[in-house]
Amino acid sequence: MKQILIINGPNLNLLGKREPTIYGNRSFVDYLKTIEELFPDVQLRYFQSNHEGELIDKIHELGFDVDGIVINAGAYTHTSIAIADALSAVTAPAVEVHISNVHARESFRHHSYLSAKCKGVIVGLGLTGYELAVRYLMSYKVIEL
Ligand code: DQA
Repeated sequence: MKQILIINGPNLNLLGKREPTIYGNRSFVDYLKTIEELFPDVQLRYFQSNHEGELIDKIHELGFDVDGIVINAGAYTHTSIAIADALSAVTAPAVEVHISNVHARESFRHHSYLSAKCKGVIVGLGLTGYELAVRYLMSYKVIEL
């Protein structure tokens, strides 16, 4: 069974309560049930932390074993070279997800340190972005040239 790690960064524990006009009314824990139902053949691991070092530790811990990482690093996306380095260090392919369309928001949200370390980026599609990322990673294969 494929294993996919979903990582959410700071303030994403408040989904459903936090700025609902931007991030919606649904908590992530509730949405996770939907993803689990959509992908019964995938073993999903979920980790959320408000602390940069804990996010890095989790990438190190599971990033050599899982088949893919879906990461929404929240505001650390725009600041953290350390999380970018962690994604480079491990073998699992990663997809970066943002619930909101960061490019339609403040200019400080337009740059991501993580994008270059990811296979792709999904922004602005709400929580659906996570399931699209899982779907991609489920079928991801390293193409050996
Ligand atoms: C976010 C966008 C970030 O700019 C912001 O800091 C977040 C959430 C998103 O999912 O849209 O915390 O990553």
